Amino acid sequence: MAERFDLLLRGAVCVFPWGEAPADIGVRHGRIAAIGSLDAGAAETVFNATGLHVLPGVIDPHVHFRDPGDATIETIPLGSKGAVLGGITTVFDMPNTTPPITDAASLAWKRAYVSEVSWCDMGIYVGGTRDNIPDLASLEVAENVCAIKVFAGSSTGPLMIEDDPSLERVMRAGRRTIAYHSEDEYRLQARKGMFKSGDPYASHAEWRDVECAFLGTRRLMALARATGRPAHILHVSTAEELEYLKDYRDIASVEVLVNHLTQWAPDVYERLGGFGVMNPPIRDKRHYDAAWAAIADGTVDTIGSDHAPHSKAGKLKPWPECPAGLPGVQTMLPLMLDHVNAGRLSLTRLADLMAAGPARIYGAVAKGRIAAGYDADFSVVDMKARHMITNAEIVSPSGWTPFDGTEVIGWPTATIIRGQMVMREGEVLGSPIGRPVRFR
Ligand code: DOR
Ligand code: ZN
Repeated sequence: MAERFDLLLRGAVCVFPWGEAPADIGVRHGRIAAIGSLDAGAAETVFNATGLHVLPGVIDPHVHFRDPGDATIETIPLGSKGAVLGGITTVFDMPNTTPPITDAASLAWKRAYVSEVSWCDMGIYVGGTRDNIPDLASLEVAENVCAIKVFAGSSTGPLMIEDDPSLERVMRAGRRTIAYHSEDEYRLQARKGMFKSGDPYASHAEWRDVECAFLGTRRLMALARATGRPAHILHVSTAEELEYLKDYRDIASVEVLVNHLTQWAPDVYERLGGFGVMNPPIRDKRHYDAAWAAIADGTVDTIGSDHAPHSKAGKLKPWPECPAGLPGVQTMLPLMLDHVNAGRLSLTRLADLMAAGPARIYGAVAKGRIAAGYDADFSVVDMKARHMITNAEIVSPSGWTPFDGTEVIGWPTATIIRGQMVMREGEVLGSPIGRPVRFR
């Protein structure tokens, strides 16, 4: 007798860890039950995916959904809706909220809230502060925590630990991989006086220069080696760091942002002004080329969006009053599919960077690959679809994207989370079913 499935994905090319191959996927009780040539008669629902590619559910390991926070900016219900519209099944959400996620009580609140309102699955970062260092070892192994996040240089919000002695204390508290914002705070502060309000937006990349990022990373690596504590360096933005980090693969892993793989200076500041300002900055073409070389040679482990939904009004302010950060969770996968079509990487490498990579670095349970027994999370994409990205389709109340007017080839046509179709052809379906993710 044929096996029974709740859902059968039929006729697609599947992107397995070992390569791309045509296969049907049978789903039962939210998990992958069978892979191969399967009998459609044995399924409650059949999704004919002929002509499409099925990726393992894409994870955006770096978003700022701002919950809890000021109600005038985006919160988890909208951010996660943008995620599933963009083909993302899981996000890891950052702790620099108001108040920040830095203790057991705020973490418990967020875990419960996610289960109520999120459209996608979610891992939760806990912010490291000087005050919570004694609690970090227990916080990092609390349920649904993807990692401790440390801002070693200042960005949006007050979370920061900038000095070596405190950073070392953080590294000696616990064992899991810590995620770092790496820019040297002392150099940032020292250079601030070189600029004035109203200077060109391109000043952002001069102020937060290559050495700010590189020095920050050298300091973190020295401490990580001394303590043996693994470090995931978020949004690596310079050729120098990418070269340097190759000698630290025993303790270091690397995230690069889709923004740094898609835009460069001075073009981005000339076209977009404050709408191109983020930390660390978008830099010149040399760093863009280095980022792609690091994708090609395996230096990069994960890709994130650093989705930060600042308001239009804020971004229209003169530099440096305009806040740093760009929305991106909804456009990250489409832009990367376009890069695949342009020949910059393979779909198999994309799945490695955007699903397997985050699952491996953060230790997400049963996520990140199409394999029997794993969660039935799929990003179903049409590699031939052409689509013009516009501000109007961005669900974030920020109401804009730095990619307005960009035409891409390759588009997510369905998002499936634990066997449930949550997006199809640009429509979200049903009600929010997102859950907090489990970690090893
Ligand atoms: O540009 C940024 N914006 N970089 C960060 O590290 C934080 C983010 C935000 O939260 O706005
Ligand atoms: Zn960020």
